[in-house]
Amino acid sequence: MISFVGAGPGAPDLLTLRAADRLARADVVVWASSLVPEDVLVHVATGAVVHDSAGMTFEDVVGVYSSVSDGARVVRLHSGDVALYSAVQEQVDWCVAAGRSFEIVPGVGSLAAAAALLGRELTVPGVAQTVVSTRVAGRTAASMPAGESVAAFASHRTTMAVYLSAARPEQLVDELLDEGRGYPPDTPAAFVVRASWADERVVLTTVGGLADAMRADGARTAALVLVGPALAGAAPRCHLYDPAYAHGYRRRSLPGTTSGRPTGATPGGNR
Ligand SMILES: C[S@@+](CC[C@H](N)C(=O)[O-])C[C@H]1O[C@@H](n2cnc3c(N)ncnc32)[C@H](O)[C@@H]1O
Repeated sequence: MISFVGAGPGAPDLLTLRAADRLARADVVVWASSLVPEDVLVHVATGAVVHDSAGMTFEDVVGVYSSVSDGARVVRLHSGDVALYSAVQEQVDWCVAAGRSFEIVPGVGSLAAAAALLGRELTVPGVAQTVVSTRVAGRTAASMPAGESVAAFASHRTTMAVYLSAARPEQLVDELLDEGRGYPPDTPAAFVVRASWADERVVLTTVGGLADAMRADGARTAALVLVGPALAGAAPRCHLYDPAYAHGYRRRSLPGTTSGRPTGATPGGNR
C-alpha cells in the first residue's frame, strides 16, 4: 500500500491523526526536504527506510515504490494538503497502471495555516465568498491553461491565494493590478512565509506595496501571497448565527425572545 499523505504546512503537530498513524507504521518513507521540514519526521518509527526526494526524478521515486512489494507500507509525504500542487496525480496514475494499491490522506493546507496566522476568515459575508487558488506562470508556463492567469481572475477582486510565486514579485503585482482592470492598489495583501514553522512570519501590505515587501523579505519558497478585501476591517455578521435568520436547526427569534429548535430537529444534530 502506498499512502500519499498530506504532511501539513510544516509544524509537526499539524498533521492529521491518520497521517501520524501511517508514518508510525511505515516501512518506507519518501519525503521532500525542500518542501517539508525535517521535524515532521518525528512521527516516523525507528527502522523505517527514509528517502529524500528533493534530488530525485519521478522515475527515481517510482523506482522506490517498485523496489518493495505491494504489502510494504510506503508513505509519500506531500507538503500541506495533497489536493493542490502536489504532483500526486502522476503517481496515482502510475499506481493504477502498475496495479499497486494506494490511498490519499488529506492534510492541513498552507492556505488554512496562512489564514490562521493572519487571524482572518477568507470568506467574509458581503465582502468575499470565493477564494481563488492560483499561481504565476514562470518556467512552468506550459502548465497554465488558457484563461487561468492571475490577471484573468483579478477582475473579480475576491480573495486570492497565490502559490509558488514568491520569486516573481513584479510579474505577480502587474497581473494583480492588470492595468486598472484588477485589484485597486490599496487592496489589503499579505506575504505569509513558512506558516506554522518555528520561524513563520507575515508581512502585511497592499497590492501596490506587495512587490517591495516580497523583495525586502527575500523568501522564495514556502511563501504564500494572499490578497483581497477580506484580509482587513471588521466583518459584517454572517446569516448563520443571526437571530433574524431561520434555518433547519433554529427558528427565527424576534428581539426579546429566545431562539427555539424547529419541531422534528434532532438534539445534538449537525455536530
Ligand atoms: C508545491 S506547492 C505545495 C502546496 C501544498 N500542497 C499545500 O496544500 O499547501 C508549495 C507552495 O505552497 C505554499 N506553501 C507550502 N507550505 C507553506 C507554508 N508553510 N507557508 C506558506 N506557504 C506555503 C507556497 O506557496 C509554496 O510555494
